[in-house]
Amino acid sequence: EKGGWASFMAKEVAEQPEAVANTIRGRVQDGEVVIPELDGLDDLFVGINRVIITACGTASYAALVGKYAIEQWARVATDVELAHEFRYRDPVIGDDTLVISISQSGETMDTLMAVKYARERGARTLSICNTQGATIPRESDAVVYTHAGPEVAVASTKAFSAQITALLLLGLHMGRVRSVLTDTAAVAELASLPEKIASVLEKENDHVTQLANWMADTRSVLFLGRHVGYPIALEGALKLKEISYIHAEGFAAGELKHGPIALIEPGQPVFVIVPSPRHSALIHSKVVSNIQEIRARGARVIVVAEEGDAAVLPFADEVIHIPLAGAMFEPVLAVVPLQIFAMALATAKGLDVDQPRNLAKSVTVE
Ligand code: BG6
Repeated sequence: EKGGWASFMAKEVAEQPEAVANTIRGRVQDGEVVIPELDGLDDLFVGINRVIITACGTASYAALVGKYAIEQWARVATDVELAHEFRYRDPVIGDDTLVISISQSGETMDTLMAVKYARERGARTLSICNTQGATIPRESDAVVYTHAGPEVAVASTKAFSAQITALLLLGLHMGRVRSVLTDTAAVAELASLPEKIASVLEKENDHVTQLANWMADTRSVLFLGRHVGYPIALEGALKLKEISYIHAEGFAAGELKHGPIALIEPGQPVFVIVPSPRHSALIHSKVVSNIQEIRARGARVIVVAEEGDAAVLPFADEVIHIPLAGAMFEPVLAVVPLQIFAMALATAKGLDVDQPRNLAKSVTVE
């Protein structure tokens, strides 16, 4: 079933253009996002004043990207809650709250219990799921399926990019239904996303694999990102922990000076996800200053930046490029080299990337 691939993970990383294209298919009509499964369900999105996205693991990082997209496009306050924290306090939710759950398997017990709890409290529920007919969608008022296809490797890759894609679609759908969407360029961008992912795979696979081979003895890697690059920093670190068993931490770049900078010593590898200066010169300049600060302390800086971003070049030891894309679309592109890096590093260490120790693909106990 692996075809010619060395692992399911390698196959699934390579399948991302298709996974994302399949998730978008049939959901754009006449320049607008219209999700057929949500037909007649506008009430889920109108008259709410709060969205909570709940999930575990990788899905919770997709959720964080969704927070930015839903707030920007649908103008409704959105928070992300780890499913296992959510119901073990007394959250303030009710019928003005939409609780969106995200689960590749649709069977994660922590997430399922959070959805049930939300329903009992009167919240509206919508699930984003990759498995047709799974338990979580059955327990929800509505479901938007990702069409990533079966994911076998324990570490999630194509399901993650499909989850972000589904959240972007949902944000645009909600923005239209709530009559607040002004960003028409975003809808047009959806169509080019698969080919941009394919271009990252093609242009950066060998480069990043070689980088990982050089770094096979590394004992700790840090990841920094800002705005939607922040969840990608978290995901990059998680991939590395999961399959390479290396200590890795993701931080919001702005948090650096409040603590993590103490970790920087000569030779410390740090990946920095740099947002495009075209979206916000201010955010970009802040991240470039972070790069200068860690570089001054001897960090080995590996930058993931948009093609043509010359400002990062003087301070980067390595530059990994992603194509130009709208701000909300960058996460799906920036995560790809981080997946390749984790996979190549685990392979260089002789580890089984598909079946990492101590982990299960789907955790059906609380
Ligand atoms: C974990 C898996 O236990 O569950 C992760 O090992 C996954 O890869 C997480 O991100 C959530 O799973 P699901 O199926 O709910 O998306």
